[in-house]
Amino acid sequence: MSTAEHAAASPLILGTMGWGVPVDDGEGPHSAGPGAGADVALARARGALRAGLEAGITVLDTADIYGGGLSESTTGALLAELDPAERGRLRVQTKAGIVLPGQDPAGGGATRYDSSPAHVRRALEGSLSRLGAGAVETLIIHRPDVLTPVEDTVRAFLDAREAGLVRRLGVSNLGTGRLLSFQRALGRLAADGTGLACAQLELGLHHRTLVEAEVLANHGAAPATAGAADLGRVCAEEGIELQAWGPLGQGRFTPGSDGSVPTDPAEAAALASAGGPAAVVAKVAQELGAGREAVVLAWLLKLPWGVRPVVGSQDPARLAACAAAPEVAAAMDAAQWHRLWTAARGENLP
Ligand SMILES: NC(=O)c1ccc[n+]([C@@H]2O[C@H](COP(=O)([O-])OP(=O)(O)OC[C@H]3O[C@@H](n4cnc5c(N)ncnc54)[C@H](OP(=O)(O)O)[C@@H]3O)[C@@H](O)[C@H]2O)c1
Repeated sequence: MSTAEHAAASPLILGTMGWGVPVDDGEGPHSAGPGAGADVALARARGALRAGLEAGITVLDTADIYGGGLSESTTGALLAELDPAERGRLRVQTKAGIVLPGQDPAGGGATRYDSSPAHVRRALEGSLSRLGAGAVETLIIHRPDVLTPVEDTVRAFLDAREAGLVRRLGVSNLGTGRLLSFQRALGRLAADGTGLACAQLELGLHHRTLVEAEVLANHGAAPATAGAADLGRVCAEEGIELQAWGPLGQGRFTPGSDGSVPTDPAEAAALASAGGPAAVVAKVAQELGAGREAVVLAWLLKLPWGVRPVVGSQDPARLAACAAAPEVAAAMDAAQWHRLWTAARGENLP
């Protein structure tokens, strides 16, 4: 990505994992009649995209496996509804490399990982067809395939780039050693010296491994990292964007939130006195005059690694609340940041 495009990139990415996937409301997803579940799901995703655009989001994150292809086909349908100028501001990143049992042409009964050149090309072409697009910005290798040499996958990416199907390569859910193998293979094989665009890992107040591994090195409370200990810092040093999936902790720190900033002091005080990490989130939100979702995301944005949260909400009010995260991060002090961390840990730092 050029410097100009980096400047245009929004602080948040919109995750589309649930787009187009009918929600079972307990009365059956089609309780309002055949097809209603799909219509409701499409309308929900449309609302999320509209809220994302209003929040200034410029990148949509999807994968070939999300909703068995529904995420990509819904994303494609919604992009087609936009006017060309709005559509032109959006970049799509998709993923390949996981084969789910029900989607396996080899008929396997278990999930498997496949980053072989044949699979990567087939998956990318399937994604483009569902998205109704000629190319995507970034193809992310979803999970490591230990049976395929990194160089083979990199060559498959470069062939696809040569064919105009994709611009950048990303990786996901891997350790620092493998990340650097991709980075070096790209450096060796790409004539233009391109590096990895991004690494996407689970990261948030609920999943603090990358932070705690760096801080608690050589301490009994250090988390098991499976080789990802210094990945945040290495990404920053290598110019690889670190994307955090699950950044809201799927709502566990913001129960009952509708995205609003509680203006009634009694309501704010009640939230803050409830106990547990959600109460500390509410208290810090009260101190900063911010929405609780923005506080949860601000905890990530304060890390000096340039983290971009991939937000998976489809709720317009929650997405609007998330958009304030950069300002909230700027206002949050180190003591508030440590209070949030300690509350999420459930115990004091050593
Ligand atoms: N690379 C990978 O392996 C990987 C894995 C998983 C996900 N991802 C990407 O990351 C994105 C985000 O992941 P995620 O969805 O797990 O993370 P998330 O953003 O932490 O969670 C979003 C989910 O939490 C719910 N939620 C948030 N706040 C809530 C609240 N106060 N009350 C009730 N529910 C609440 C949302 O429901 P509402 O819609 O109602 O707000 C939504 O279902 C995905 O869309 C996908 O693009 C990548």
